[in-house]
Amino acid sequence: MTTPEPAAAPAPDATTFRHVVGHLASGVTLVTTRTPEGPFGMTASSVTSLSLDPPMMLACLNTSSVTCAAVSASGAYGVNVLGEGQGHLAHQFATPASDKFAGVQVSEGVLGVPLLSEALARIECEVVEEVRAATHTVFLGRVRRAEAAEGAPLTYFRGGFGRFEFARDDAVYQRARQQVLERRYAADTVLLLDDLAYSLDVDKPAAFYALTRLAAEGLVRRDPERGYVVVPFTVRTSDETFDARCAIELGVIDMVCGRVPEPELAGLRARFEAMAALLVGDRFVDFDGYLDANYAYHEGLVSLAHSAALTTAFAQLHIKSVMTRSFGATPVTSQSFIEAQRGITEGMERGDAAAARAAVYRYTDLAKQRVREILQQTGGRL
Ligand SMILES: Cc1cc2nc3c(=O)[nH]c(=O)nc-3n(C[C@H](O)[C@H](O)[C@H](O)COP(=O)(O)O)c2cc1C
Repeated sequence: MTTPEPAAAPAPDATTFRHVVGHLASGVTLVTTRTPEGPFGMTASSVTSLSLDPPMMLACLNTSSVTCAAVSASGAYGVNVLGEGQGHLAHQFATPASDKFAGVQVSEGVLGVPLLSEALARIECEVVEEVRAATHTVFLGRVRRAEAAEGAPLTYFRGGFGRFEFARDDAVYQRARQQVLERRYAADTVLLLDDLAYSLDVDKPAAFYALTRLAAEGLVRRDPERGYVVVPFTVRTSDETFDARCAIELGVIDMVCGRVPEPELAGLRARFEAMAALLVGDRFVDFDGYLDANYAYHEGLVSLAHSAALTTAFAQLHIKSVMTRSFGATPVTSQSFIEAQRGITEGMERGDAAAARAAVYRYTDLAKQRVREILQQTGGRL
């Protein structure tokens, strides 16, 4: 049960409210209109559908904006929904300028408003009511025409633009990833789009999405002649990576152990605790979360040296991809990984370089040993 907030709790100030409401993800539109003075338009995310019967939309425009006055004067507005590659237009139309439409292809709608030819969707509205509220004017519009194209939308979340992803496609990708991790496909085989779609029982766009994400993760690679190929993974690949990480971390310990400022040690401890919470008993609570937290911990350890060269060398190991391929096939793991990393953390905290070094060696040996066990279980090549 949650405790009710005291009735007299103060309302959030503008900064807090902007931060909090920024968590409400939205699409991005250009609201456009035309008056005898010419075309007007502005970027707007406070646009939403209001009713289906009759079809109505509303747009909340700052009363001080030039476009707001123009919509009021013309009595009509267009809502142009931006696609994912149109972030530049969102910037262009959010910046005051006399020639906002420069370089933008438009057509004229039935209500005479300019409509973006390349928009993901276009909706033309006739203003039926204007409501003043605080700094804004809410335009209630009766929809006169609406049309949509194929594509993905531009999204807006916490002050930044992003892409939309179907949860459905993500689930397909997770299944494809599991198949690769379980070695359902031999190393170096070509993953054909049709075969993958068939084996996952999904349509081709979902299978293609899965392939592109597998490629980004380093599980498959795109061969210009053969298509998507399963990247071979052997004990040698993981041994080399874990040994290289070990060498970097030993170097860092030799450089800084005993001289690390207290706040940086506290940062390392916080990263350790965040990671430890994701491996309970002998299981990953959430493998991807653990992977991120583990990466953050080791990156934090390396960054104690304040050496751009070492941090870059660490990043180039692509350790997440190697860990995914080695440990990601099973949720079962061992608490001894956490204990070894606790040893590294405590060694650094005490300024005991010998203890920290021994823990790094122990952690590396555990990782290499675990890969052998997993490869044996899943029939990989030793
Ligand atoms: C992503 C994004 C969303 C925005 N949403 C709105 C909105 O819903 N309403 C609004 O009044 N201004 C919004 N703005 C700000 C206007 O686009 C900006 O003030 C613009 O310069 C106004 O143009 P104008 O004065 O030429 O009409 C948004 C800006 C961005 C970048």
